Amino acid sequence: MSPSTARVAVITGAAGNLGPVWTRGLLEAGYRVAALSLHGTEQDPVLVELGSTYGDTLDVITADVTVRDDLEAAAARIQQRWGTPDVLVNNAGVDVPPRPGEGTLLEDVPADTFRRVLEVNVLGAFQAMQVFGAAMSAVGRGSIVNIGSLYASVSPDPRMYDHVPMEPPFLKPPAYGASKAGLVNLSRYFCTHLARTGVRVNTLSPGGVAGGQDAEFVRKFSARVPLGRLARPDELVQPLLFLASDASSYVTGIELKVDGGFTAW
Ligand SMILES: NC(=O)c1ccc[n+]([C@@H]2O[C@H](COP(=O)([O-])OP(=O)(O)OC[C@H]3O[C@@H](n4cnc5c(N)ncnc54)[C@H](O)[C@@H]3O)[C@@H](O)[C@H]2O)c1
Repeated sequence: MSPSTARVAVITGAAGNLGPVWTRGLLEAGYRVAALSLHGTEQDPVLVELGSTYGDTLDVITADVTVRDDLEAAAARIQQRWGTPDVLVNNAGVDVPPRPGEGTLLEDVPADTFRRVLEVNVLGAFQAMQVFGAAMSAVGRGSIVNIGSLYASVSPDPRMYDHVPMEPPFLKPPAYGASKAGLVNLSRYFCTHLARTGVRVNTLSPGGVAGGQDAEFVRKFSARVPLGRLARPDELVQPLLFLASDASSYVTGIELKVDGGFTAW
């Protein structure tokens, strides 16, 4: 595929742990990628490196998914430069990793903290699907992949974190799983509304992904996974490419769990 006919993918929250993994995977598969990032490239050396390797086929655009104007501006820029996107990956998300001294009692979780997780993880994806889904519908094709989580299906086990010294203990945000479960069903909603226009909508739900967690967490978590380990980031890429591409042309409305079997027992 020549660069000018390559398919166009948009990814939100392109910095962080997984954003650059998806971005690299899409670039390596031949897509032109519009990488929407909350802070541009400044906080992500991998995006900078990808920019120097892939040149004009990567466009990093600053955008906050909770701000509809940012998404409209990004869509206008992509439309003008490359035309209507073929793929949207809603990856932007808020979670809270354990940090010493930052535990919370469940009854003390502030409403604003709860609201912010829902705002980014659900409203952000909703707005991106509104903006890019409408453009895709207008040209009669497209694939939207929403990044869910194993915690859309099960609750985090607090015992996974009880070795981390803090009082009150570390609390995985209660809104996180609720937001991801909401996102799975929002994907079904968009699936049924956009299917007639040729746009498919699916969720890809990763399990635990190796990314510098402490050894005790890794031991406990791995013991819970039928495959006996966390995912390597690269193991997520082919599932994404499957949902993004015509390889899944008759697949819409599903949640593809890439979790080593975590949610199977
Ligand atoms: N890493 C894992 O083990 C794992 C497992 C399951 C699901 N997930 C999901 O995968 C996605 C990426 O996770 P990650 O581990 O890379 O997280 P991360 O925190 O490293 O990255 C999240 C990204 O979202 C961006 N973001 C946050 N708020 C935003 C906003 N308002 N607008 C735009 N971007 C915003 C951040 O800037 C960052 O680039 C998330 O949706 C997460 O819930 C991750």
